[in-house]
Amino acid sequence: MADDGFLLDRPDLGVLGTGRMGSRLAAMFAAAGRRVVLGSRQPARAAAIVDELGVPGLSAGSYEKALAARAVLPAIFIRDGLLTVLEAARSQLAGKLLIDISNPFNEDYSDFITPWDSSGAELIANAAPQARLVGAFKNVFWEVFDQPVYEDGLSDVLMVGDDDDAKSEFLELAAGTPFRYLDAGPMINARAIERLTPITGRLGRQLGTYPRMNWKLLGHAPATASAR
Ligand SMILES: NC(=O)c1ccc[n+]([C@@H]2O[C@H](COP(=O)([O-])OP(=O)(O)OC[C@H]3O[C@@H](n4cnc5c(N)ncnc54)[C@H](OP(=O)(O)O)[C@@H]3O)[C@@H](O)[C@H]2O)c1
Repeated sequence: MADDGFLLDRPDLGVLGTGRMGSRLAAMFAAAGRRVVLGSRQPARAAAIVDELGVPGLSAGSYEKALAARAVLPAIFIRDGLLTVLEAARSQLAGKLLIDISNPFNEDYSDFITPWDSSGAELIANAAPQARLVGAFKNVFWEVFDQPVYEDGLSDVLMVGDDDDAKSEFLELAAGTPFRYLDAGPMINARAIERLTPITGRLGRQLGTYPRMNWKLLGHAPATASAR
């Protein structure tokens, strides 16, 4: 097929947005050996960040270029128009792994813009209904990516979603990244996981650990136990 070369050549992951999370997540996945495009509304901004990071496998581009990757991770706030970006990209996202990291904060971070019986994840599922959605990294504050190893080892990423194949694909993509990934169940659990983030921020400020905070579930599991 004429398309084969292009399909084989597709990057593994496209990240939308070059803020605190987007730049760090793009660098982390590239450092783990994936081919990643860091996409920006201003590709020159992404290019400057990529040059500075100097991680092999990491390249820069537009949102359009990032959306062409095999999997897509938007790192844009819902309040800043993420749903509009996804709605415009529905056809590019159809059938793809879509990694949702959103916490639906309002402008001053005093509350969420979603009611308690909803979540950012559910808004994103509606905006891109044919994408294969997995929620992750929602409780990981940005500075954790700069120093992911704690005295007690690695911290946890709670993964949610209703599509087991998409979860497996996400775990393959994340192989070699410095977190323990736990399957936290169906997408509806994003309601609780997202709501944990403002509590984490509050506790981190009280303890003086803000913004390098994340959770780790403690306990002695048998060596044969699986996270899924
Ligand atoms: N900060 C955290 O610790 C944290 C933790 C977990 C999850 N999250 C989630 O990660 C997502 C991104 O958070 P962040 O802290 O990385 O945000 P951020 O630093 O504000 O960066 C967001 C990026 O979104 C892009 N963008 C697109 N449209 C925009 C608009 N109208 N206004 C402003 N920016 C726009 C920009 O990238 P370009 O200009 O390059 O397009 C911007 O750099 C959010 O959904 C958040 O809930 C954040």
